[in-house]
Amino acid sequence: MPHVVFIAPRFAENTNRYVAAFASLASAGVRTSVVSGDPDTAIPTALRPHLAAHYRVNDPMNAADITTAVRAISRGVGPVDRLTGALEQLQMPLAEVRAALDIEGMLPEIARRFRDKDRMKEVLRARGVPVARSLLVGSKEGLRTALSELGYPAIVKPQAGLGARSTFRVAHDADVDALFAQGIAPSTDIPLQVEEFIRAREYTCETVTVRGVPVWRSGTRYLPSPLETLENPWMQYCVLLPREEEETDWTRFHDTNGAALSALFGDAANTAAGTALTHMEWFLREDGSSLVNEVGARPPGVGIMPLMSIAYDTSFFAAWARLIAKDEFVPKKRVRAAGAAFFRGQGQGTRVASVKGIERAVADAGDALVEMRSPKVGQPRADGYEGEGYAYVRSETTEGAKEALLALVQNVRIVYS
Ligand SMILES: Nc1ncnc2c1ncn2[C@@H]1O[C@H](COP(=O)(O)OP(=O)(O)OP(=O)(O)O)[C@@H](O)[C@H]1O
Ligand SMILES: [Mg+2]
Repeated sequence: MPHVVFIAPRFAENTNRYVAAFASLASAGVRTSVVSGDPDTAIPTALRPHLAAHYRVNDPMNAADITTAVRAISRGVGPVDRLTGALEQLQMPLAEVRAALDIEGMLPEIARRFRDKDRMKEVLRARGVPVARSLLVGSKEGLRTALSELGYPAIVKPQAGLGARSTFRVAHDADVDALFAQGIAPSTDIPLQVEEFIRAREYTCETVTVRGVPVWRSGTRYLPSPLETLENPWMQYCVLLPREEEETDWTRFHDTNGAALSALFGDAANTAAGTALTHMEWFLREDGSSLVNEVGARPPGVGIMPLMSIAYDTSFFAAWARLIAKDEFVPKKRVRAAGAAFFRGQGQGTRVASVKGIERAVADAGDALVEMRSPKVGQPRADGYEGEGYAYVRSETTEGAKEALLALVQNVRIVYS
């Protein structure tokens, strides 16, 4: 009976989908324990009977806290076979705890290849996988030297970023001065990554590997790119999962995806570390060439888990839980296209002042609409490209999904004040 420990930092809506997925494996002989910053009273009632243990910690993202929790859980419930969590920021601490407690799975050296953008590019380059030219810099002079080498425009971003929040496009010396003026400058303690700017479309490739062997792939396109969306706060953001499974821009990337994953997993491929759902972001240039941007060794965000569930008529949360707990994955056929629209407001301000066009959007999207969370007046302004509300759509065709997304983002108008 495999025993899985899942880190649920808070019992929030999205996290609970993962907890529920593991809990549902009880009938398949999997025992699940959870570690959380929340008390056990916050566990959804329906899930409680299916959990073997709950351990509360002060800081659920902290390796020492997680170690204490896992030790206690193994004393109470029994040895831990898998230690996992869905969040990007958990991947390094989880690897450290596995190393400390001798739990099978991804260890720090491999986890760092996924978490540290500089290390990732170094590993990929060494294996001939195409990536943007980049340099890691630890001082203001270093940044200027790197920019003179790479040229403008360039991207400046953290070594281990998230949500594109601290990613900047710099086109002139003045942009660099402006970054410094805002207090954004590299130091030896906190270096920054400088990259040549890649003018391209942005795609994702989700891959299931079982002990290092890719057994299934899917992909999406970001419309527009996360950076463009952040630079233009009025833009609403979409993610599209096409209907076609064969011979598309996405499938032409599969060899590069395979080469990149094999480079990153390295010698650990043939172990539990190589059993993963990975989320790769990549660029497709006008000339047809592609480059890997970054890879997460965790389930994708920006609605891609629900979109895959829609497109493949299955629960991807459940599929991921089974993959991690039992090293099993049954590839499904794609049966439709899916898309996500993220609603963002216009104007300055810190709160949602008005939400218009919802009814029209719902009517125009018609049967394609699967789920919608419309923003509420008074709600605080979100800081990322995911905005303050979303909708998921489905369609028999890619075009149909695009039309439904358009109906949503053209009609929904949010104003901040
Ligand atoms: N070299 C590059 N050229 C052009 N655009 C880039 C480059 N690097 C990053 N970007 C843009 O910035 C965005 C964020 O970069 P990246 O994915 O590396 O950071 P992140 O903080 O991990 O983002 P997220 O968590 O949203 O995936 C990318 O999606 C892309 O739009
Ligand atoms: Mg990214």
